[in-house]
Amino acid sequence: MRYFIETYGCQMNVADSELVAGLLEGSGCRRTARMDDAQIILLNTCAIREKAEETIHNRLSQLAHLKESNPALLIGVLGCMAKNVADSLLESKPYVDMVLGPDSYRRLPLLIRQRKTEQEHLVNTRLSRFEVYDDLFPSRREGVNAWISIMRGCDKFCTFCVVPFTRGRERSRPMASIVVEAEEAVRQRFIEITLLGQNVNSYRYDDARFPDLLVSVAAVPGLRRIRYTSPHPSDVDDRLLGVMAAHDNICKSIHLPLQAGADRILRRMNRSYTRAEYLRLVERIRAVVPECTISTDIIVGFPGETETEFQETLQVVERVEFDMAFTFKYSIRPGTKAAEYEDQVPAAVKQERLERLIAVQKAITLERNRDCVGRVMEVLVEKESKKSSSQWAGRTDGNKWVVFDKESARIKDFVCVQVDSTHGVALKGHIVIPVNLSGQEVYHAVA
Ligand code: SAH
Ligand code: SF4
Ligand code: F3S
Repeated sequence: MRYFIETYGCQMNVADSELVAGLLEGSGCRRTARMDDAQIILLNTCAIREKAEETIHNRLSQLAHLKESNPALLIGVLGCMAKNVADSLLESKPYVDMVLGPDSYRRLPLLIRQRKTEQEHLVNTRLSRFEVYDDLFPSRREGVNAWISIMRGCDKFCTFCVVPFTRGRERSRPMASIVVEAEEAVRQRFIEITLLGQNVNSYRYDDARFPDLLVSVAAVPGLRRIRYTSPHPSDVDDRLLGVMAAHDNICKSIHLPLQAGADRILRRMNRSYTRAEYLRLVERIRAVVPECTISTDIIVGFPGETETEFQETLQVVERVEFDMAFTFKYSIRPGTKAAEYEDQVPAAVKQERLERLIAVQKAITLERNRDCVGRVMEVLVEKESKKSSSQWAGRTDGNKWVVFDKESARIKDFVCVQVDSTHGVALKGHIVIPVNLSGQEVYHAVA
């Protein structure tokens, strides 16, 4: 059977879709890039904000029409909205055949076979305390980066967040199987890996902690770049920073979600750090890993956030000077603690704060990128630039996108690029050959 899978949400979902693809291909299904050609359509869904859920509901209504013209089509909903969709299945979504939560993917090939003979909807949204899929190999698409999931679930229970409910309890995958997957990624000619988890640095398996895992992965021959996301600030310690500093192939870049800058709001969010602790952590990062870029996530309009408290967030943003920030309006998630707070912030106020925050961060991103102008930076060629077929786009070690003329470089090459300008998020430059930062030949490093 031909399947089509569409993925929403975070990188965890991207990794899970690859896992599902591996499972299906192992049971004889073939992937198709065209939805109208598929016999099975799967949506891997996200529930993080209301908008994400709306997108999925709209998509499902479109699929209902496809099903009318092709009753044999199987439609499956996977991922973080599974529970929610399962609840409304019988009343409003009879055309959905299968609903599977993030811990039930092993059952998918069996359910597909069953559904052909059974009329009942097949639903399994039970969360597991153990499932880490460590014996399954994902079917990866082309690209330079391989996503490797190292832990699942989250026990932090930030009061705004639905993830602990949609993905269940925190559990880590054996270190040995992660290392094997990293080695396999190198054999498949991936240049970079990204270790993934909702709380990637609370990884623990037997005696091994996250820094131990990083050390083992950094030793995998041929692995040129290692990234990880998302760490929780409370679990970043000097040991982790020391390991980052000590290994050339661990990228000097960290995503450090701030969420808010006022202590009262951080407490209400259950973030388990104060503004001062966060700022001290940023100082430690810059002292131990001086080149490290820092990006963040921020929520505006969390229940009860006053204008003064919002300004405290702006102050932290100005003080830290993040290289990049993902900014969100607080979105009520039914079932979470913050959804019960009665002092919700009006939509117009959230919108206005978001716009102010974006303006402040935009200027800072530009400023930080201007610091790169004139420098020669090592860039991994990843894909064609969206704007021009004669240019490549690639990322620096610090996770900044750079666009430059292709010349004779190829995808997966490391090239040295002199940065000439910046107009916002991305840098523009030109390849300088054969100058190299560390004195080694890096141009056409990959034959
Ligand atoms: N596990 C990651 C976050 C995953 S969700 C971490 O802790 O860093 C990605 C981001 O979405 C969060 O960092 C937060 O900024 C945002 N987010 C989560 N729930 C939200 C909500 N209810 N409303 C708005 N933004 C939210
Ligand atoms: Fe959500 Fe907080 Fe867990 Fe991140 S750490 S997934 S924000 S509960
Ligand atoms: Fe969305 Fe689930 Fe990821 S809610 S952000 S897909 S963990």
